[in-house]
Amino acid sequence: MEQTENKKRVLSFVQASGTPTLGNYLGAFRNWRGMAAENDCIFGVADLHAITVRSAPADLRRRSVEMYAMLLALGLDPEKNIVFLQSHVPEHASLAWVLNCYTQFGEASRMTQFKDKAARHADNVNVGLFTYPILMAADILLYNADMVPVGDDQRQHLEITRDIAERFNGIYGDVFRIPAPYIGKKGAKILSLQEPEKKMSKSDPNVKAFISLTDPDDVIVKKIKSAVTDSEASVRWSEEKKGVGNLMTIYACCTGKSFEEIEAEFAGRGYGDFKAAVAEAVVAEISPLRSEYERILKDRAYIEASARAGAEKAEAIARRTMRKVMKKVGFYQG
Ligand code: TYM
Repeated sequence: MEQTENKKRVLSFVQASGTPTLGNYLGAFRNWRGMAAENDCIFGVADLHAITVRSAPADLRRRSVEMYAMLLALGLDPEKNIVFLQSHVPEHASLAWVLNCYTQFGEASRMTQFKDKAARHADNVNVGLFTYPILMAADILLYNADMVPVGDDQRQHLEITRDIAERFNGIYGDVFRIPAPYIGKKGAKILSLQEPEKKMSKSDPNVKAFISLTDPDDVIVKKIKSAVTDSEASVRWSEEKKGVGNLMTIYACCTGKSFEEIEAEFAGRGYGDFKAAVAEAVVAEISPLRSEYERILKDRAYIEASARAGAEKAEAIARRTMRKVMKKVGFYQG
């Protein structure tokens, strides 16, 4: 896939660390799908990032295939876009090493996601967890991405990517394109249904806290009905009403309604009616995706062929960037 002049290159990845959630969908996937028709797009399953947390080999393999199938189910056409697995292209790890040497320990230490994850996995604070954003910078810079659609939690990682790229360009000239984050106005931070101070996460030990994109309809309805709200019983947008605000955001994303319209719709009605409407809207949005995912997951030959073709196309671009980087840095190329 050659980048054409009028098209932007859009790139984003998702970690192969569990079943994706409604948070991934509303914060990222939905925007990826929206951008896919008009841009040169590269979407990847970040399986290298996933090993920063220990998992059984068979689980990693299964989750990687499942995540890849989910990307295809979203409608990210592997013929028109590049859809691949990160570990299939060795240049990600090679560039990450080089970029490690252009990243200061102090700036990497400021990453809030590292601090959170280190606290949550105190028994395995490996160096990979620390250098995780540098591998992410390599993912982005290898492909000269213009735009990176992500949720709010990746904002800081995009900032460090830009800083590293600018530093490298400052030394060696115009090597990397400086990528811009694309963070949607609504849905960039979907919160846990049980502890609405935290983001919704696929690795949350409490399964009631998140809606997985593979949850059956009745499970979605139950999880939304048991979502934590407050005792006021009025559907009203307020910074303090995090639980209700989160459900309003989810409802707004799934229906296209504004907060004012939602407040008017549920004026004088309790949370019961509201939650039923939210559940219905979420089911309408993700149940067709789940059916498509289940269909694609059975077609291993299609998954394998697409992943192989995606990796070949990705590698062709990555190899070119890496060759340029090696030359600029001064590695003897014979
Ligand atoms: P990951 O796998 O945690 O999440 C994938 C995408 O989903 C977004 N997201 C959310 N958005 C809104 N609300 C939430 N509760 C929520 N949870 C997750 C994330 O912001 C992300 O956009 N490091 C990345 C993966 C990655 C990457 C990259 C992304 C690796 N290399 C290069 C962009 C470019 C991650 O762990 O995302």
